[in-house]
Amino acid sequence: MSTTQTAGSVSRLRCIACGATPDSAGQDFRCTACGDLLEFFFPGWTSAPPASDPSPFEPAALKSLWLGRRTSREALDQSGVWRFRELLPHIPEEHAITLREGNTPLYRLPRCARAAGVENLHAKHQGMNPTASFKDTGMTFAASSAHQGKFKWVACASTGNTSASMAAYAARGNMHSLVLIPEGKISWGKLSQSLDYGALTCQLRTDFDGCVRILNDLVRQKPVYLLNSVNPYRIEGQKTAAVELMEQLAWEPPDHIIVPGGNLGNSSAIGKALLEMRELKLISRLPKLSIIQAQGANPFYRSVREFGGKKLEPMTADTLATAIRIGNPASWKKALRVLQATGGEVEEVTEVEIAAAKAEIGADGIGCEPASAVTLAGLRKLRRSGFVKPGESVVLILTGHVLKDPDFTIKFHRGDLFAGTPVAGTPDETEAAQAKYLQRAPVVLDAELGAVIAALDAAERNS
Ligand code: F0G
Repeated sequence: MSTTQTAGSVSRLRCIACGATPDSAGQDFRCTACGDLLEFFFPGWTSAPPASDPSPFEPAALKSLWLGRRTSREALDQSGVWRFRELLPHIPEEHAITLREGNTPLYRLPRCARAAGVENLHAKHQGMNPTASFKDTGMTFAASSAHQGKFKWVACASTGNTSASMAAYAARGNMHSLVLIPEGKISWGKLSQSLDYGALTCQLRTDFDGCVRILNDLVRQKPVYLLNSVNPYRIEGQKTAAVELMEQLAWEPPDHIIVPGGNLGNSSAIGKALLEMRELKLISRLPKLSIIQAQGANPFYRSVREFGGKKLEPMTADTLATAIRIGNPASWKKALRVLQATGGEVEEVTEVEIAAAKAEIGADGIGCEPASAVTLAGLRKLRRSGFVKPGESVVLILTGHVLKDPDFTIKFHRGDLFAGTPVAGTPDETEAAQAKYLQRAPVVLDAELGAVIAALDAAERNS
């Protein structure tokens, strides 16, 4: 089945600040007039279709088209991103690189719901993507656009997940990939992925923000295709997570969606999808989209709370949730816009709150990486502040798989997560002790039946 391009799906680029509409983007995906970010928009969605040609965006028709594709044997239809291609800019099928991304489960979280004090809590687990993070949904689309542009090299700066995803999609598309990551600040699981997928992996002696600066200079000098989330194709692909979520909820939006905030591409993408779905009448009301940051990496939280979103002061970021250890988020203006348009809230959470929330999600049999757990920690704060009411429905977006960062998990359960190098927001002993009841350290025993039975009996007494 070929990709569909109707008059309505013709897309244009637009600068989010000055409104310029360039015909194409430069290597750095910045507006040549003012330097701000570009986004796609779809002029055909708002213009009335000719009477002879009924709108291809009739909501019921779209919904049934997308549902029908779930039984298709075609690669594009089996992708949870390309299945919704009517909402995306057109990329010809021969350039599509897909690993059947998307199609991620929506789970109920009964224990977490009780602990957080809400009745209806779900997690959309984007860690169930092919490279185990939400990045694949944007990467399938942006890597395909690199392929269409006939690039030999693609590149990104990353805290580990973007690089893992990019390396995989580049390999599938027969492109070379260059990864810039902060030395010693990403998990081994993520680093090992980019090595296995064959990327040229450079560990730079700096942080994520330093890697971004070097990459921005590099793309102006070398013909490499930039695959960070300033690339608007990434945002388009990542949009589909929200569309898939609404389909899973029978197009009945939840009251709240809660996402982690790092470079702020994901929140921008999900918010863009919500606004577009309402414009196309696929949904009738907007969920509130809230964004949660780690206290030690909270430039967006501070921007909103201290400066009313008028400016963002970059900071040196520090958190054990290394995926979101970002001090100068590229997409903060896009995120601010969707936060305001949906009436969402921004929160910050401590290192202990993150670790405890991660263990709680694990105890529901789901698991996720630390950065994803900020969503549950944030929900608990939003419940306490009254922003989320007990009877309201909530969906957490879990962004990465539990196996992405086993070091964090093992240290937490052994009780030494907070020992060693201090990070911003490192708890004192009393605060750290609050998460103790969630710790399940492994027990080392002699290889004797009696010892195992004694351990079982002790566990039973404590259960
Ligand atoms: N959760 C995980 C697991 C991530 O890897 C990231 C970002 C985020 C949340 C935050 O999403 O940046 O769109 O606000 N990881 C990027 C990377 C920066 O390089 O892998 P965001």
